[in-house]
Amino acid sequence: MSAQLETYEGAATIEKVASLCRRRAFVFPSSDVYGGLGSSYDYGHYGVLLKQNVKNEWQRAMVAERDDIVLLDSAIILHPKVWVASGHLAGFSDPLVDCRTCKLRFRADHLESASCGRKPSKQAGETDDCDLTEARQFNLMFETSIGPVRDEGSVAYLRPETAQGIFVNFKNVTSSMRVKPPFGIAQIGKSFRNEITPGNFLFRMREFEQMEMEYFVPPALAEEQYRYWIDERRRWYLELGMRESHLRVRAHDADELSHYSSETSDLEYLFPIGWSELEGIANRGDFDLRQHAEHSGAKLEWIGQDERYVPHVIEPAAGADRAALAFLVDAYDEEVVADRPRTVLRFHPRLAPVKVAVLPLIGNDSAMVETARGLYEELRRALPAEYDDSAAIGKRYRRQDEIGTPWALTIDHETLEDGTITLRDRDTLAQERIPLESAKAILLDRLEQPWRPRAQR
Ligand code: GAP
Repeated sequence: MSAQLETYEGAATIEKVASLCRRRAFVFPSSDVYGGLGSSYDYGHYGVLLKQNVKNEWQRAMVAERDDIVLLDSAIILHPKVWVASGHLAGFSDPLVDCRTCKLRFRADHLESASCGRKPSKQAGETDDCDLTEARQFNLMFETSIGPVRDEGSVAYLRPETAQGIFVNFKNVTSSMRVKPPFGIAQIGKSFRNEITPGNFLFRMREFEQMEMEYFVPPALAEEQYRYWIDERRRWYLELGMRESHLRVRAHDADELSHYSSETSDLEYLFPIGWSELEGIANRGDFDLRQHAEHSGAKLEWIGQDERYVPHVIEPAAGADRAALAFLVDAYDEEVVADRPRTVLRFHPRLAPVKVAVLPLIGNDSAMVETARGLYEELRRALPAEYDDSAAIGKRYRRQDEIGTPWALTIDHETLEDGTITLRDRDTLAQERIPLESAKAILLDRLEQPWRPRAQR
């Protein structure tokens, strides 16, 4: 393992990445024409493709490449009793303080990083004018109501995590699928939290997507499986090209543990804002199944040939948006090439929204355009491809660099004479001549190769 870094290494800042994301249609501020909505974001074309790739890679590793994990897509609004049993109604809260002077609200445990509403901006609580209230608990669940009449009995909540939908389906899954502990149920979907101090772009949002897997194990295997999933999840990020020097495992201290967890480790990424949680892996014991059994009256246990027990649960819980942000930050690079600055996203090819760009050297040369379009039509059926004949070739390359396209194929005069094209590599900028008819096979092969973006990584 590489030596641990103190500060982020690289050209990225959250502001630079957010600005590129807006310029290149990855992520827009939500409700932009109304001035935006705090900590809500809309994904543009390339952002949708990037996040889809992140989720597909997760599902591939969790489900497609294994025999012991099945899928679920549960409802966002669950029976309100779910949140009583899970402990969220009573305990899913942050301590808040209000400032009577500037009328802003802060998390009591994040005061040192909160800015006072007055100018020049200072740390909240720092100036003589600051007049903070005592801390009080604020539940993070978004409330809504079911049906036409809004009364006490109609109150419901948008799920703050996808996990509970899995626990309440334990019986459905075990009675309908050929599963036996150890086995897992995986779910990707939206979660909602009324975060008090959101910020830092996609890092903390009020509406976000989670990728969670609950792995049900015989109690004696819990410890071993907890360790296994920490390693497995770390490996997933590294295989998708994340720099090892910017990824670490941090075990929670006893006073940090959630009410349901006997041990938790965070996979942390060294963002430009410092080391921060990317994913949590928790040993939840039998807490959830027991709670739901008690509150629902259902028997939530494993009954085998000659055994009967309540499985323990190991939970790797990741965020699709936070992972997308980490991959964006990790991929972001700036350099000077031939005296000109270049911004490039060095995504792992499997994560890149577009895998190949097909570019006729001269956009109004009908023979080049025709050959390029023919190649593009062939490639797009096999992998995400883009055709571009606008602007000068250098400008088109820069655009593809900024959306992280690993390969560009250029059709030029030589192509028309000998049937070869130029294959340009985003990272090394190497250009090689290849036969046009082998382009698809070469790219599909490169997509399967292990990939490291820079020698020093
Ligand atoms: N079921 C356990 C659970 O939800 P968590 O640590 O609260 O655990 C898991 O959330 C992951 O979900 C986090 O590691 C993070 O990647 C993502 N996540 C949580 N809150 C988020 C938010 N407000 N915005 C973006 N992602 C968030």
